[in-house]
Amino acid sequence: MENDSWSRFEEACRACVKCPLCETRRQVVIGRGEPRRVPLLLVGEGPGEQEDIQGQAFVGRAGKLLDLLMTGLRFDPDDWYIANIVKCRPPGNREPTDEEAAACLPWLRWQVRTLKPAILVCLGRTAARHLVDKDIRITAARGQWVEKPGFLVMPTWHPAAVLRDPGKKIDLFKDMEQVRETVEELRRNGTWTSG
Ligand code: URA
Repeated sequence: MENDSWSRFEEACRACVKCPLCETRRQVVIGRGEPRRVPLLLVGEGPGEQEDIQGQAFVGRAGKLLDLLMTGLRFDPDDWYIANIVKCRPPGNREPTDEEAAACLPWLRWQVRTLKPAILVCLGRTAARHLVDKDIRITAARGQWVEKPGFLVMPTWHPAAVLRDPGKKIDLFKDMEQVRETVEELRRNGTWTSG
């Protein structure tokens, strides 16, 4: 991909005033990972306090848990990128409103078109509501593939939900294990190539 267009994208995100979250943010959190073609894009809800301070997605407690899980499952760090439904922290870590999400989603769509992932993982209900189905019930939907034009979607628990309820850890582990197996399969059968 052209580094130029990614830099211009970042610049545009940082100047964004399309919703009221721009008034309270410290930083715009574009994502975390190398901006290149990846088989896997993880999507959370929105930056929390640490992310707002550090300017990177998933660097707080939930992110640390996710990193442990991804390492434990032997995901190659070059194989995934992580972003959020909204790029600016909602005050008090509340759920972003539908208007905030709608204003922000074009930025995420640009990232999807550019990174061209084969699999998108929705971490938690908010991501699944905005990317799969407004009325989705994450309890029922998690762990089951949803086919979208151009990619597969796996809804699962948000790591913050696992921190609140450790009983959910095994589900998140199993769902991400399915994801890793599918990444391997797509590579083996040539459906996903980095070129
Ligand atoms: N929770 C999210 O949904 N996103 C982050 O970046 C951090 C915590």
